[in-house]
Amino acid sequence: MIDRIDQLRSEAVAAIAAAPSTAALEALRVRYLGRKAELPNLLRGVAELPPEVRGQVGKAANQARQALESLITQRGAELEVGELQERLAADRVDVTLPGSPPRPVGRHHLLTATRREIEDVFCGLGFRVVEGPEVETVYYNFDALNHDPAHPARARSDTFYVADDVVLRTHTSPMQVRAMEAQPPPIAIIVPGRTYRPDSDATHTPQFHQVEGLAVDEDITLADLKGTLLAFARSIFGEEREIRLRPHYFPFTEPSVEVDVSCFQCNGTGVLPDGARCNLCKGTAWIEILGSGMVDPNVFAHVRDYGYDPERIQGFAFGMGIERIAMLKHGVPDLRLFYDNDLRFLEQFG
Ligand code: PHE
Repeated sequence: MIDRIDQLRSEAVAAIAAAPSTAALEALRVRYLGRKAELPNLLRGVAELPPEVRGQVGKAANQARQALESLITQRGAELEVGELQERLAADRVDVTLPGSPPRPVGRHHLLTATRREIEDVFCGLGFRVVEGPEVETVYYNFDALNHDPAHPARARSDTFYVADDVVLRTHTSPMQVRAMEAQPPPIAIIVPGRTYRPDSDATHTPQFHQVEGLAVDEDITLADLKGTLLAFARSIFGEEREIRLRPHYFPFTEPSVEVDVSCFQCNGTGVLPDGARCNLCKGTAWIEILGSGMVDPNVFAHVRDYGYDPERIQGFAFGMGIERIAMLKHGVPDLRLFYDNDLRFLEQFG
């Protein structure tokens, strides 16, 4: 029996020393020291041996077990160091290698770029950018803006109704009133955002974009409106531009004007270098860009309690279509191109 123990021990020692991996070592531990292995079995049977051999056999078996256990621990530590080194080598990242080839990052949609350009101009003039709800009440969209109860713009054919007293805003002007309710004068804001009307052709889509402007203080005049819009027109369409104001009508401004910019294709002459009539301004030398006017006192009356006493303050407002500005500036022939998402169109800008 002692011979068998010695034989098992030397066989195991050789195998442990040659174990190629921690996994192989674990298999050897099970094979020689596991619950069903021969050596532990022998140890368990020592008590039943005749007394004269019990001591010798028990001692030899115990020593063999202890020797194997410590060998396994030692070999395991060696193998682990080696395996860690291998993993570290395999996982090494060379941070000095060049990155993956750069991906194209895309660009702003022409409407986004135009909106931002407009925002930049007015921020430079001291206006703040605010936004408002696209689903709007009839009160803010029409009533507070001094629209007569029978005004044609209220018709179901001209406005998307969500409910009897709720619409998709037809312009950004409702934010004039909301903004004044949020802060006392002076106020100078622009309001970019989506607007909706049930029109659809080459120059109208049911959803479009406007930028509203509002400046109110004790001494704001039509001259301030003209100076502000001249600065805007020159920033967007070129430093040589002029503007002109034509009398017009809006329910919520008085007086109201439509604003034209001198044609930037024929330089405000109406004629092209080859003598032909300018097709952009149709020979008129002027291009309409927006509607505006002095805020009607009836509008201030709706926000009198917020500090806007019509007897004490005055201001101007304007509203422009972002699509229209972009079309004019970039010669876009059909408004629907903005929404077709055809890359051949989109990639020409930005
Ligand atoms: N809201 C008007 C429109 O959509 C434009 C406008 C804004 C006119 C502000 C005057 C003052 O046509």
